[in-house]
Amino acid sequence: MDKLVFIVDDEPSILKLVSHWVKNQWGYGVKTFSLGNEALENLTDNPDLVLLDIMLPDVNGVEALRKIKTVNPNLPVIMLSAQGNIEVALDSLKLGAYDYFPKPLDKNRLEPAIKNAIKSYDMQRKIVELEANLQQEYSFDNIVSSDESMQHVFKMISKVLDNDITVLIHGESGTGKELIARAIHYNGVRKERPFVVVNCASIPRELLESELFGHEKGSFTGAHQRKIGKFELARGGSIFLDEIGELEMSLQAKILRVIQNKEFERIGGNEIIKTDVRIISATNINLKEAVENKLFREDLFYRLNSFPIDIPPLRERRGDILLLIDHFTKTFNKKLGKAIKGVKKQTLKTFYEYDWPGNVRELENTIERCMILTDGDMIDEESLPPHIKSDAVNFMKAANGDLFDDDSPVIPFEVLKKEAILHALRKTDGNIVEAAKKLNIGRATFYRLMDKYDIDQKKK
Ligand SMILES: Nc1ncnc2c1ncn2[C@@H]1O[C@H](COP(=O)(O)OP(=O)(O)OP(=O)(O)O)[C@@H](O)[C@H]1O
Ligand SMILES: [Mg+2]
Repeated sequence: MDKLVFIVDDEPSILKLVSHWVKNQWGYGVKTFSLGNEALENLTDNPDLVLLDIMLPDVNGVEALRKIKTVNPNLPVIMLSAQGNIEVALDSLKLGAYDYFPKPLDKNRLEPAIKNAIKSYDMQRKIVELEANLQQEYSFDNIVSSDESMQHVFKMISKVLDNDITVLIHGESGTGKELIARAIHYNGVRKERPFVVVNCASIPRELLESELFGHEKGSFTGAHQRKIGKFELARGGSIFLDEIGELEMSLQAKILRVIQNKEFERIGGNEIIKTDVRIISATNINLKEAVENKLFREDLFYRLNSFPIDIPPLRERRGDILLLIDHFTKTFNKKLGKAIKGVKKQTLKTFYEYDWPGNVRELENTIERCMILTDGDMIDEESLPPHIKSDAVNFMKAANGDLFDDDSPVIPFEVLKKEAILHALRKTDGNIVEAAKKLNIGRATFYRLMDKYDIDQKKK
């Protein structure tokens, strides 16, 4: 899209000349204003840059600059000043102007200044967007569940956001342990600081110590340079120790020291490094059992386990399968550029009955695979991996049996959504505030959907 430049000057000849350069020669979109207030009123057009004369008949250019900066502090403004106005021009730089140009304007300097200002404004906006996406990705909105046990998990999470308590997340593989850990970090007080992940199972033992704590140059063969460890990189933020149950005894002792004394040393170093890191760890094994079997230090276990969070496997919250299918279909529609509308009834039944040993991750991968293989706009049995078809035990048709009763071969997502609303209302005895919370949607949206699907609060 064309970039838009506002040119604000009361001298018609300057307006004409500069807009000729900017528009016809340099290819930007242009809007010209001879009054400062006019330009201010039109900031809603979202210009990418403002060229602002310092001497305007209605409002002083510096004042106009100040107003622009209160509306949008990042919008670049280049001041244009008559000779002798240099003092004012310098003041405007202090107020955040990008640059200033004395008249007569030097065309050859003005062009790159405009180009650079717009480019850096673009970059700033991209960074803000990326950060917003990142936060969005790990906000609670992206954790889908209407199940009671998961609501309990959410409640637990909300209690640890604003403190530094050490959290231990337990759950089978693929249940969402990392997702929860990220949600804790990115919704908590440390969100502006790093979130650093260390997978204790995937890094060879010899390297793990240096990965965690770093090393000095020459501290062992192959240590050609100083390396900064993850605990140092996470300073001020959070470290996520995944598969903590795999940690060998000697490293367990070192982690204990970090927790107790908030300090450590790099391998081969004498310097004691102070650290301020929140520790979130995760495991899919039963750590207490590991303690009983003398594989895990008891003192460390109690330290890590100050705040345990247990994520139930997907087969124990089958209601979430429907919601997750809807969620992942939307995500992959975007990612794959598809327009899949729903799941054929028989397939949905298979999804519902299957035990999902790989939990949410397996469901996510399966949906993606199915969507890639499906040509039509409905996911059908053909696209399912064979083991899912054959494994589907005859799980009680009851729970949502009514869903599968009539003869239509397809359950569109609209029906699933209606089911989710009904399910949430049933679970909360018709309490709309609670039901909306369960589904992570606003109350107004909930009412709108009830209205849309013709749901009567009392007849759940
Ligand atoms: N409740 C949920 N809502 C939406 N997506 C989820 C949910 N739970 C898990 N996921 C998704 O499932 C995938 C697996 O989650 P995650 O990596 O957090 O699991 P994990 O428990 O760390 O698994 P593993 O033990 O295999 O490392 C991720 O893509 C995650 O975004
Ligand atoms: Mg994980």
